[in-house]
Parts: sequence; C-alpha cells; structure tokens
Amino acid sequence: MLVVEISPRPMVTTARNIVFIGPMGSGKSTIGRRVADALSMDFVDCDRELEQRLGVEVGLIFDIEGESGFRERETRMLTEVCSRENYVIATGGGVVMSVENCDIIRQRGYVVYLETPVEQQLTRLYLDKKRPLLQTPDRKEKLEALAEERDPLYLGLADLTVQSTNRSLVNMTRLVSRLILEQWTPAGGDDADEND
Ligand code: S3P
Repeated sequence: MLVVEISPRPMVTTARNIVFIGPMGSGKSTIGRRVADALSMDFVDCDRELEQRLGVEVGLIFDIEGESGFRERETRMLTEVCSRENYVIATGGGVVMSVENCDIIRQRGYVVYLETPVEQQLTRLYLDKKRPLLQTPDRKEKLEALAEERDPLYLGLADLTVQSTNRSLVNMTRLVSRLILEQWTPAGGDDADEND
C-alpha cells in the first residue's frame, strides 16, 4: 500500500530548492542528504551549518542565549541557505513556529514534510542526549505537545507530505525522490514562470 499523501496546495513552480520539514527524528537530514545525492543537488542542514560556523552545538546555544536566541540565529541561517539555488535543505523541527520562516521557505522551496508518529520519534531518538527540548523527564508528553502545536503548521506548509512509518531508508529515499521528480518543476525548468 502506498502510504503517501499529496497535500492539496497548488504546485510551486518558482522554487529553487527542496526544503525538508518535520519533527525531530523524522529523518529530514538523513533522507534529505540521500535525496540530494539522488537528484544531483547540493545538501545543507541548517542546524549543522550553524554549529559549524559557531563551533558549538545547538544545545549550548540554547544554554547561553535561550531558545529565543537560537530562533533568531535559525531564521538568519534559513534566510541565507534558502537564497541559494539547487539545494536540498534540512530544517530544524521548530522552524515552522515563525511566520517569517514559513514565508521564506514557501518563497524559495518546494516543501517536503516527513510525517512521523510520536511513537516512532521516541524509538528513533531513544539514545539522543543532545536535543535541548528532549532534556525532560517525560519525552512522550513533550513530543505529543509539540506535535499538537506543529503538525497543522507542517501540513499547511507542505507541497508534499510523506509518511515515514516502517519504511527502510533506501525505500524512503527512492519514494521521496520519485515523488519530487513527478511533482516538482524547478524554477528555470520548462514550465517555470518566465517572469519569475
Ligand atoms: C528543534 C529541533 C532540532 C533543533 C533544535 C530545536 C525543535 O532540530 O533545531 O533542537 O524545536 O523541534 P531537529 O528537528 O533536526 O532535531
């Protein structure tokens, strides 16, 4: 059975990049990197790029500058990477909490949402000790609260929604790459708006 949902939003023909969104542990970086290889595009992970430039991990940014400081840096990084072309971009799970971020993504990206149930997040993130929002005694409760708040935002922003449950990495990469090729016409392609 094909467990794929294509969101009703009209196809974006002006996007120069592919942007992966979804909660922590949805596979944005892992799948994104492989999809970039499959489609001969470049890849960037916003959080890793931020960490490389600052020389510290996201957790330490949270500790020193608070979540609001991290969010400001996240928006600046997103603006920069989205201005590039031919990139697959992995975003952090909280990126959709800002209207400004959603506008940037919408303008420059064909958006792929990796829909992931909390149970699967819990399994995948079992050994994670780095994510600041998971430093809490009840991870399930935290992830459910985040999902309630954010899932409608992911869905609203997505051009393509793919459920990642019980799929191997190889199958998921193949499926997502195929769906992107079927659905997405990059700016500058045959169908692109000449005025763009
Ligand atoms: C966050 C998710 C993280 C990272 C930060 C905050 C969130 O990224 O940006 O810890 O708010 O959900 P991943 O989704 O890549 O884990």
